[in-house]
Amino acid sequence: MKVLVVGGGGREHAIVDALSRSAKVDKIYCAPGNAGIAMQAECVALHETEVEKLRDFAQANDVALTVVGPEVALAAGIVDVFRAAGLRIFGPTKAAARIESSKEFAKELMMKYGIPTAGFRAFTTYEEARAYVAGRPFPAVLKYDGLAAGKGVVIAQTMEEADAALRDMLLDDKFGHGKVVVEDYLEGPEFSFMCFVEGRRVYPMVLAQDHKRAYDNDEGPNTGGMGAYSPLPFITAEDERFALERILKPTAEALCAEGCPFTGVLYGGLMKTRDGVKVIEFNARFGDPETEVVLPRLRSDIVDIFTAVADGRELDRPIEWYDFATVGVVLASKGYPGAYEKGAVIEGLETVDGAVYHMGTACRDGRIVTAGGRVAIVVCKAPTLREALAKCNAEVGKIHCDNLFHRTDIGRRAMVTE
Ligand code: AMP
Ligand code: GLY
Repeated sequence: MKVLVVGGGGREHAIVDALSRSAKVDKIYCAPGNAGIAMQAECVALHETEVEKLRDFAQANDVALTVVGPEVALAAGIVDVFRAAGLRIFGPTKAAARIESSKEFAKELMMKYGIPTAGFRAFTTYEEARAYVAGRPFPAVLKYDGLAAGKGVVIAQTMEEADAALRDMLLDDKFGHGKVVVEDYLEGPEFSFMCFVEGRRVYPMVLAQDHKRAYDNDEGPNTGGMGAYSPLPFITAEDERFALERILKPTAEALCAEGCPFTGVLYGGLMKTRDGVKVIEFNARFGDPETEVVLPRLRSDIVDIFTAVADGRELDRPIEWYDFATVGVVLASKGYPGAYEKGAVIEGLETVDGAVYHMGTACRDGRIVTAGGRVAIVVCKAPTLREALAKCNAEVGKIHCDNLFHRTDIGRRAMVTE
């Protein structure tokens, strides 16, 4: 069959790679794709939010399955538009994707259905939000209610910081005009639990953790993710069972009960607190860079999963996973997540013994150059996390570019319990 992947980052490259392992796929398109994806798929010059044009492309090219990567496409209603045209697509409707696009919707759903999460209140005015925060303990957790490209959350240690953030969000409309959710502060290790969901049916993936801080030892500013690894030795089978039975399954049920059944990947951003596992956030899509370390561990044919979920069918057989560990190290442009330059030549990518998923690259005069903040992720597998990290760091050393940096400690903290 012909498959179209929507998006153009490392996550989509990992999806394309998983699809290319299926005997059922004979042609992969990716819109817009990137220079690395172009080696495994035919890139289509359409932006991920051009949903009508994407639909027309799928129709004109006999695409039998479309898989959506980024949230912006979901929030733009790509699934609704494709379904209305009778096209098969893997992803949630716009209504179901509110679990990610609206923090207030997600929080109210969790409260209504007793799904463990931090207590919260939503505010529309700066004055009310400020007064509420002033009367509570710090740190204060402030979240802009909408898509803010991962930058809409502020953990304020002082009233001054909280005030500045509330001004940005509610007076100056820095992310657009919207509400702010103020949450209780939770503590503990975070982890990502992604599940394939078709209505009430929930099929868990193996767990992963990403590293949001820019530099080793979790120092520096927050980023879109500097690396990830799987599995997670500090999460017990009991934690995992709790997360599935008390969080992911009830959330899938709740979305059905609310009239917007979920189909696609439901991503639980969870925290293991002293009082048990709780939800920090939900995403309505594959995580990035978690997908880049999770899909290489998938043993089953991903096409069987995508088509069953998109068609509203039960899976024919349980999903199988490989036992090995994976570590992914992101190569980012110097300066990221602040200002950075583009166009630096990258050499040695083809010498890496492992997967290289491109995140922000371009091809210029036959050479691969940097074209984004996060440029590529190198993913290595080994029997243990320790070996996978050592291998990954060695392989990253084969890549030469004078404008890249990376972390060297992805997953290291988890290794003490491995
Ligand atoms: P979110 O975009 O909601 O995932 O928030 C971004 C990051 O802020 C999370 O990955 C956490 O590290 C942190 N965070 C969010 N909510 C809380 C909370 N209630 N307590 C403590 N940290 C939080
Ligand atoms: N890795 C976090 C996310 O995909 O939102």
